[in-house]
Amino acid sequence: MVARVISVEPFDIVVFGATGDLAKRKLIPALYERCLAGQMPAECRVIAVSRRPMSAEDFRAIARTAVEESTSKPDPETLSRFLDLCQYVAVDAVSDEGWSDLCARLQAGEDRVRVFYLAVGPDLFDDICGRIGSHNLVTPKTRVVVEKPVGKNLASAKAVNAAVGKVFPEEAVFRIDHYLGKETVQNLMALRFANALFEPIWNQGHVDHVQITVAESLGVAGRAGYYDTAGALRDMVQNHMLQLLCLVAMEPPVSMDADSVRDEKLKVLKALEPIDERNAQHLTVRGQYRAGASAGGAVPGYQEELGAGEPSETETFVAIKAQIGNWRWAGVPFYLRTGKRLASRVSEIVVAFKPIPHSVFDASAGQIIANHLVIRLQPDEGVKLWLMIKDPGPGGMRLQHVPLDMSFAEAFGVRNVDAYERLIMDVVRGNQTLFMRRDEVEAAWTWIDPILEAWRTSRETPRPYTAGTWGPSAAIALIERDGRTWMDDA
Ligand code: BG6
Repeated sequence: MVARVISVEPFDIVVFGATGDLAKRKLIPALYERCLAGQMPAECRVIAVSRRPMSAEDFRAIARTAVEESTSKPDPETLSRFLDLCQYVAVDAVSDEGWSDLCARLQAGEDRVRVFYLAVGPDLFDDICGRIGSHNLVTPKTRVVVEKPVGKNLASAKAVNAAVGKVFPEEAVFRIDHYLGKETVQNLMALRFANALFEPIWNQGHVDHVQITVAESLGVAGRAGYYDTAGALRDMVQNHMLQLLCLVAMEPPVSMDADSVRDEKLKVLKALEPIDERNAQHLTVRGQYRAGASAGGAVPGYQEELGAGEPSETETFVAIKAQIGNWRWAGVPFYLRTGKRLASRVSEIVVAFKPIPHSVFDASAGQIIANHLVIRLQPDEGVKLWLMIKDPGPGGMRLQHVPLDMSFAEAFGVRNVDAYERLIMDVVRGNQTLFMRRDEVEAAWTWIDPILEAWRTSRETPRPYTAGTWGPSAAIALIERDGRTWMDDA
């Protein structure tokens, strides 16, 4: 099957932070791939912006390397066509230097869709948006893309949102959470709302619990400076994991339009039962990796990666037992866990159904295991529905637990499109469905802040775990004391 390409009109994308890590690893390769797919008209312009003076040719060399590093065999003709779309302007975010140059470039494309992509730290959002505004660069077709983290807590998120909101109306603001652009995450919506099978049992009457795991095998090397100011709760839970939880738990939206979907996600965030100093010790576990082994080799611990200095109390692992206080989910725990340097890289959602109420089989048939649905985001995207079936052949009734397994790569034979490719094109098309609205981001922080505060005031430090394992043993106890277990190999 070939992925369908929906054409767009020529547009300009202005990337602030164009020589930074995100631009090189994600944005430039994503734009090249859209070129290869035939979705970038030849009149498009990629206007790369950063502070460092350099020529367009210098930037094109950086872009070429970025593409070559992201794909094993770039198509030479497409790569040169893509590089021809790239321009470079040196602009200082915190002074007026370079802005007149940028204005002059943009004058040529007044009528087209204009995207400002802020691939920079949030401390620069205010300055950049302010200057975009004061230089009158906002046209009716202008959009701004804001990268996470949007703030460090509720107060700073509000300040970021207010700074962006002074210049851009909410319908022009695209707060990116790249997890929403992952193929399987969207498939979760297809699974729930395009099939009659699941919705009637998608509730506390039939679901025992839900597990959401986002495990990484890498450490923080290279990003330790940022990471140490964030930690796993801010870096992964406040955004990616809560977004996944919302998509599992939300009511069916009236339609797939942006506000219908976002209204439903917001209701879930507001229904999350508070975790604070009264119950955080019981409902959360934080950890930090020590030296260990990963992918067969020895790896250093978090403190070593951070370098000399005060011992850090930043968590590289979090497990949380969350509850959603509404009619659909009352009493159904949502167990979340995420961490760096875990046993393997795997992200998945497991919806565990309740056991059958009564067995008609005798003991020789074997144990009847409750059904569960596994929605795997990575590494191999797909959906598995675990069922009980009869062992084939004669010899009486013996039951087996087997998956109905649909691996998307095998089923459709298409290239796995990176989330950024989809999301950038959604910005160009003006579709905000897969982007976070201001009130959603703030509602997520409203739930996260008391957890941070509880950790800050507790005398406990993150529990150590060995790199290459599934985190601290307390995370296993968190679920096992409820008589359940993490499904590490679902
Ligand atoms: C980012 C986090 O948002 O997501 C990183 O800042 C994390 O710390 C990354 O590694 C994980 O994304 P993915 O798509 O590789 O699962």
